[in-house]
Amino acid sequence: MNPFTFYNPTKVLFGQGMVDKLGEEVLPYGKKVLLVYGGGSIKRSGLYGQVMEQLSRIGAEVHELPGIEPNPRVSSVRKGIELCRAHNIEFILAVGGGSVVDASKGIAAGVPYEGDVWDFYMRQAEIKKALPLGAILTLAATGSEMNGNSVVSNWEEKRKRSFGSIHTYPRFSILDPTNTFTVPRDQTVNGIVDIMSHVFEQYFSRTTDTPLQERLCESILQTVIETADAVLENPKDYNARANIMWCGTMALNGGLISAGMTNDWATHMIEHEVSAIYDIPHGAGLSILFPNWMKYVYKERPDRFAQYAVRVWNIPAEGKSQEELALAGIQATRDFFTRIGAPSTLGHYGIGQEHLDQMASETVLFGPVGSFKPLAKEDVGRILEMAL
Ligand code: NZQ
Ligand code: ZN
Repeated sequence: MNPFTFYNPTKVLFGQGMVDKLGEEVLPYGKKVLLVYGGGSIKRSGLYGQVMEQLSRIGAEVHELPGIEPNPRVSSVRKGIELCRAHNIEFILAVGGGSVVDASKGIAAGVPYEGDVWDFYMRQAEIKKALPLGAILTLAATGSEMNGNSVVSNWEEKRKRSFGSIHTYPRFSILDPTNTFTVPRDQTVNGIVDIMSHVFEQYFSRTTDTPLQERLCESILQTVIETADAVLENPKDYNARANIMWCGTMALNGGLISAGMTNDWATHMIEHEVSAIYDIPHGAGLSILFPNWMKYVYKERPDRFAQYAVRVWNIPAEGKSQEELALAGIQATRDFFTRIGAPSTLGHYGIGQEHLDQMASETVLFGPVGSFKPLAKEDVGRILEMAL
């Protein structure tokens, strides 16, 4: 196990009715609030009304930034920064899925910065401070509710880039599983794939002697796998939604499950480049790419992949080599994604060879990606070809 520092400042309020605590959670930060949300799901579900009621109860002055896109645009982040400056906003409240929370983090970091916020995403500037933000999550997937990461697209440059900062952790996150009851089936599936992928990025590590971390990872994967059918059959199953939601938060919250382990993240970086050009949902891109990444890299550590097959998928080990087990675990992953309705090829979105080279180059813009097997441009190109 490697040395590590773990610090997560986000306060989590989990469970039905927790939105009633919103007013008292916001109040310490000020009354001038920017309310950030997406394309209207929170209005249709009634959550918007509950939020406004809470904010008016504390006498908040609310300004709104609606219309945050899935795969949020830096143009929306810039709009939010202008609103904050124009109205001396003291607190940003994100109500929505990962895209809304991510855009809000960009706004929070951009307000006190004199340059263009895109600098943070292009690693040309470091975040020194940010406005405080809070979140009410409506979709279980990204972990953005309890981490400092923001992923934003620059449509003009055809780039999707991220930053991570301790200054952009939400001060609090309200996680009420009933707010995810209205998530459509495809987005629920995308969320499940994203959650599992976050675990994969940490679990498939070269670091050894980390039994607790490995079991934390495996337990999240097992819980998601055994809950998926219930949540897909009955979207209003409170316990199933609650368990998926908590898995999502646990899977990516500042490194809890992989403390002291090197992480990979190559597949996420490749997926972001696919989304940057084709605007496909993040979870769908991961479903296409991850089993291909696994096939490309498993020989680096067949023992870890064999452990994955046995412990997560209950594949009997007797009579099988590590390599056979590894391949069986990878196939089980693909079969599960297919069974829940996630796509398996780039062709599903009509994506062919056209931009493969560009996506591979952009993935390695800052050098080789991943640590399980560091990938150069040619490796990324091969994985993308396998995914066609
Ligand atoms: O815009 P609205 O109307 O709210 O609709 C959204 C959107 O169309 C809808 N939705 C959300 N909650 C709903 C709902 N519809 C009905 N009922 C609800 N309760 O779902 C659609 C997708 O929302 P989005 O926020 O884009 O999904 P998700 O949470 O999966 O976020 C994806 C974004 O997060 C980034 C991804 O790259 C992508 O841009 N990621 C962020 C990470 C982070 N911050 O740590 C890590 C991830 O790996 C990921 O990269
Ligand atoms: Zn992800």
